[in-house]
Formats: sequence, structure tokens, C-alpha cells
Amino acid sequence: MKQDQAILVVGGAGYIGSHTVRQLIAKGRKVVVLDNLVYGHREALVDDGVIFVEGDLGDRDVLDRVFAAHDIAAVMHFAAFAYVGESVTEPAKYYHNNLAAPLVLLDAMRDHGCRIFIFSSTCATYGNPEYVPIDEQHPQNPINPYGAGKLMLERVLADYSHAYGLKYAALRYFNASGCSLDGKIGEDHNPETHLIPLVLEAAAGVRPHITVFGTDYPTPDGSCIRDYIHVDDLARAHILAIDKLDAGADSFQCNLGTGIGHSVKELIAAAEQVTGKSIPVVYGERRPGDPPELVAAPAKAKELLGWEAEYKDLEMILKTAWAWSNGPRKGHF
Ligand SMILES: NC(=O)c1ccc[n+]([C@@H]2O[C@H](COP(=O)([O-])OP(=O)(O)OC[C@H]3O[C@@H](n4cnc5c(N)ncnc54)[C@H](O)[C@@H]3O)[C@@H](O)[C@H]2O)c1
Repeated sequence: MKQDQAILVVGGAGYIGSHTVRQLIAKGRKVVVLDNLVYGHREALVDDGVIFVEGDLGDRDVLDRVFAAHDIAAVMHFAAFAYVGESVTEPAKYYHNNLAAPLVLLDAMRDHGCRIFIFSSTCATYGNPEYVPIDEQHPQNPINPYGAGKLMLERVLADYSHAYGLKYAALRYFNASGCSLDGKIGEDHNPETHLIPLVLEAAAGVRPHITVFGTDYPTPDGSCIRDYIHVDDLARAHILAIDKLDAGADSFQCNLGTGIGHSVKELIAAAEQVTGKSIPVVYGERRPGDPPELVAAPAKAKELLGWEAEYKDLEMILKTAWAWSNGPRKGHF
């Protein structure tokens, strides 16, 4: 990849995409962002030099214009709907946006001779774990349309790779968390369903309490355990993945997680430490489809990319999220 070639970041105005855009710009890469702003924020693109195109990834005319106007060497594909519960009640919405629309993008890439694709996959492709930590050999049996659509796109990528010479990395994230270290951008989903921002909203008094769903799981304190991976660690892995494929490596799939699990109760206690606030807690029933424990085995990412999480300390992750909650995000509450 030549330095003057661009990387197209689809969904780059969203949470993980916007953090990745900042790292690309910091490395002197040319970046074009395509986002329809359904969930993204134009103001999350804080750096000079980012070329922003408002449009839908399933719109072939927009894609043809973008590929014709810029010499695009690689695509990072972050754009998707990601509300698991909604995917159960509205599967059509999810299969159209998360599976059918990316086919239009992949076909445009093929026609314009762009061969490198980095895909935001998810630990939700594994379904209910048969063992933890979860490695990449773990069977993929998703239990909702969100995870199923992501797995189907992984299979499409394998077939496109075989037939058309596409080179791809399917990066299976665990729980993305935290915000940029300078507090300029952060997690801003609407509606928000992720635990850390919800806990911090309870700490700030923006919501009356946080509900812990399930206290009788087979875990040490009875609440669910998850692997919280800092968004800047995720972003760094994407750049390493592009460079790896660009250097001639074969397509690959790998987990992105810390390898460390934290329970919901543990996270709330850490948030109380970080914020200095007492957080009101309500204990509720288990939610259907919530596995007791999801923790990554991250060895493959280390072996392939030389990547491992830098921000493994939960309090540090919470500090970045708290700084963002009290900074630019405050006006959005
Ligand atoms: N956040 C997590 O913990 C997590 C975990 C595993 C996987 N993922 C995956 O990572 C990706 C990014 O997640 P996020 O939390 O940053 O989500 P996000 O909603 O903040 O970002 C997604 C962006 O894509 C845009 N978008 C959606 N559909 C589009 C379309 N058809 N055309 C153009 N733009 C479109 C949205 O406007 C938004 O800016 C998603 O694919 C998600 O499934 C996220």
C-alpha cells in the first residue's frame, strides 16, 4: 500500500470506527469515512484531513463515486446494527443492513480492484460457550440474528477470498469499552445498552439505578462475566491487520479481547472507586440469551499480529469512560 492511497472506513463515525480513524490519521494515513449517520456522529471525526462522505454502504452509486474519486487500498467495515434484542424481533432489518448491504460493498471492491477488507465480527458468533476462554476453534453457533448475520458474512468473506482473491481479517471483538485517552471522543450509542456507560450514568444520577440481570449464574459472585477490551486496543489491531494483509499474509480470523473476565458486580464496585460515587443497584432476573461467561483466548492475535491488549486494567478503562461522560458527552445525556 502506498502512503498516498486511502483507507475507506465504513461506519467511521461510530464508536469503534471513530477511534480507529484517529489512529490512522495519527499515523499519517489518508482516510475516507463513509457513514449514513443512522447511529454515528459527524462530530466524532475530530481530526483535520478526514474525508467524510455521508451515504449508505448498500448504495452502489455512492460506492462507485467513492472508489472513483479516491485510490482506496483497503476497507475497514465497522457499519452494522448491533442491538441483539432488536435483531430477534426485527431480523429483516439486521439481515438487510448487516449481510445484504455489505455484499454491495464487497462487489464494489471487487469491481474497483480493492482487495483488503477488515471486518468487525463478534464473539456473538460463538453463541453459548462450550468452554472458556474461547479460542478461534470454538464452534460458532450464534443464538440470535445479530450473531448469525455476522457469521454468515464471515462465510461470504471466506468464499470471496477463495474465488476472487479478496484478503480479509475477521476480527471477533469481545466487549468494546472505554474512550479516547484525551477525552475528545467516546462511546455514544443511542439507545445505549452497554454496561459501562449505563453504570456511569447511574453514578452520575442520570439514571436512577443500574440493574444487575441475574445473580445466580455459576460464577464466583453469581453475576455474568465479560471481557472488556479498550476501544484504542481494538483500533490498533485493525491497523496491524491491514498491514499484515498488505505485507502478503493470508486471510485470517481472530479474537480481540484481554483474556481477563470481570463480573458485573466487580465492574460496579470498580466504577464506585473510580467515580467516588455510590451507585444504586437493583437485582433482576437473568435475561434470556446471556451466557454466564464470555472471555477471549487472545493468543492468536498475539501470534499473528504481535497484538495484545495494552489497557488491561478495568479501573483505567473506566477512568477514560468517566472522563468522556463528564466531558463532551455530558450534553448528550
Ligand atoms: N461495541 C461492541 O462492543 C462490539 C462488539 C463486537 C462487535 N461489534 C461490531 O463493531 C462494529 C462497530 O460497533 P460500534 O459499537 O462502533 O457501533 P456504532 O453503532 O457506534 O457504529 C456503527 C456505525 O455504522 C454506521 N452505519 C450503520 N449502518 C450503516 C450503513 N448501512 N451505511 C453506512 N453507515 C452505517 C452507523 O451510523 C454508525 O456510525 C459493528 O459492526 C458491531 O457489530 C461491536
